[in-house]
Amino acid sequence: MLINLLQNSKRTIIYTGAGMSTESGLPDFRSAKTGLWETEDPTQVASTEALNKDVENFFEFYRKRVLGLKDCIPHKGHDILAEWERAGLINGIITQNVDGFHSVAGSKNVMELHGTLQTVHCQSCGKKYGSEMYETASFYCTCGGKLRPSVILFGEGLPEGPFKKAVLESEKADLFIVLGSSLTVTPANQFPLLAKEQGAKLVIVNMEPTQFDRYADLVINNRKIGEVLAEVNRMYFPN
Ligand code: APR
Repeated sequence: MLINLLQNSKRTIIYTGAGMSTESGLPDFRSAKTGLWETEDPTQVASTEALNKDVENFFEFYRKRVLGLKDCIPHKGHDILAEWERAGLINGIITQNVDGFHSVAGSKNVMELHGTLQTVHCQSCGKKYGSEMYETASFYCTCGGKLRPSVILFGEGLPEGPFKKAVLESEKADLFIVLGSSLTVTPANQFPLLAKEQGAKLVIVNMEPTQFDRYADLVINNRKIGEVLAEVNRMYFPN
């Protein structure tokens, strides 16, 4: 079924959430027991308020995530998506993830809705640095301003460029495949609905059910994304 939808589609967009990177060893946010928000309160560590009012907590939370990212790499699923883009089977990836793994794996048309942990920038003057500043616990800019990861914090709007491009891609897609998102955070979770409203077929591949499953043409629960992608890949490239 998923292979048929892919082969019959003229323009396929992939939409990924944190479930795309758990098989790389990065925790997601809402899985029971292992999700980051099971032990941390996002408003206390990942919001503009935390950056302004509780900066030590903020620094510690994001330093842990930057260090965690250092030990992880894209998995086979990321590589398969990059290969499918080169083969023309898919046309782009809209991602909520900030690990940069789609680009590291070689995907080109990647729209990072929530920014990236790969760089930090000064809250005061905007100067950009590599995230290694957080690895060495260097949290301040030469101008004295606070350095923060270039991710979208709770309380901030999405970056205009990737957002606008994601709208255009969602409107043009005739197949829209969600991989590993609970689809609970707006406005990022509106893209699958936008694609569907414009006539695309919607596929949701997610370990657990989501609130948007009822709009999907195909739902695959209780299976690991890496396995699903590898299985389809074997059908598409049999030899
Ligand atoms: N295979 C399939 N599904 C998986 C896998 C896997 N290997 N691992 C996890 N999942 C599923 C989980 O069941 C979960 O429903 O991926 C989903 C991930 O959902 P969330 O943890 O809510 O992550 P996401 O949807 O990306 O969160 C959106 O919330 O906190 C903000 O900015 C953060 O970008 C994030 C946004």
